[in-house]
Amino acid sequence: MSLRMPQIRFNDSDQLAALCKAGGDALRLNVLRALSSDSFGVLELAQIFAIGQSGISHHLKVLAQAGLVATRREGNTIFYRRTLPQNDSLGGALHAALLEEIDGLALPEEVQARISTVHAQRSAASEDFFARMAGSFQARQDLIAGLPQYRDSVVALLEALNFDAHATALEVGPGDGSFLPELAGRFARVTALDNSLAMLELAKAHCERQTLGNVELKLADALHDDCPPADCVVLNMVLHHLAAPGEALKQLARLVRAGGSLLITELCSHNQGWAREACGDLWLGFEQDDLARWAAAAGLAPGESIYIGLKNGFQIQARAFTRPAADDRLTHR
Ligand SMILES: C[S@@+](CC[C@H](N)C(=O)[O-])C[C@H]1O[C@@H](n2cnc3c(N)ncnc32)[C@H](O)[C@@H]1O
Repeated sequence: MSLRMPQIRFNDSDQLAALCKAGGDALRLNVLRALSSDSFGVLELAQIFAIGQSGISHHLKVLAQAGLVATRREGNTIFYRRTLPQNDSLGGALHAALLEEIDGLALPEEVQARISTVHAQRSAASEDFFARMAGSFQARQDLIAGLPQYRDSVVALLEALNFDAHATALEVGPGDGSFLPELAGRFARVTALDNSLAMLELAKAHCERQTLGNVELKLADALHDDCPPADCVVLNMVLHHLAAPGEALKQLARLVRAGGSLLITELCSHNQGWAREACGDLWLGFEQDDLARWAAAAGLAPGESIYIGLKNGFQIQARAFTRPAADDRLTHR
């Protein structure tokens, strides 16, 4: 008679063990902390944590095997981002608790300083692009999507929000100013700010041609300079030029008055790496969930969304997020 041993399946406990192993290292915890509202490429993470590429790749592999990070290819670069805990699946509660604890940690100062350096490198690339390419702005925009393709959708979101006659608007990154007439006709006062003098000149010429009397143009960086709060903050095709979009949303949300809205038009996630060179894009669009998650972290509630498919295969998302009316945490800078 042969004795049959019961087969022991470790699959579930293996999965939990991978999660515990991934969390059992200070560097990996700091990587997860750094990814809380950002995503970084391998080389950027190697720079931020001052270790070699093979060292950081090993840690990222352990985190990926545990399901704590996911990858996304952007052109030639693979970006890492945190995954969301799935509370109803194995390890989900542990995953959520781990992230909650991690988010209470402060990153070492030198790590924070190197993250700022990476952001500054990304921003410099974007600013340089608009300074050099203002002359061919329209043609480059049209390579992917131009205002005619999303104007009506943004207008539909504006109309649905039904702002009162005294409401004010702030457009960040108006580009050549083509959307400003829509805002000028619907708001008492409009401020448009751009950090590129060359682009601001284009917007100024457009406002003059359209004799818009209630638009103020300002040369300013929306993330680093003082900006006036408004009832409606509009961001058309700007976020993918910002170094740290999740953090940027937090700052821009502060400019929205209680009861007001943040309107974001963006490309949906795509894999057309040439857009970096041709259009100065830092990010190849965004996952719909990422925008919603960043907005929620910024204290904004989801509103209407419109998705626009284009013949060239790109998809645009026009999204409205609202600051609750009772929200008095507004921090004007
Ligand atoms: C792709 S263009 C979009 C223009 C326009 N909104 C449209 O939909 O056609 C991005 C604009 O954002 C501006 N921009 C990028 N980063 C900025 C920042 N940090 N602060 C203000 N403007 C910024 C650029 O100079 C440029 O004018």
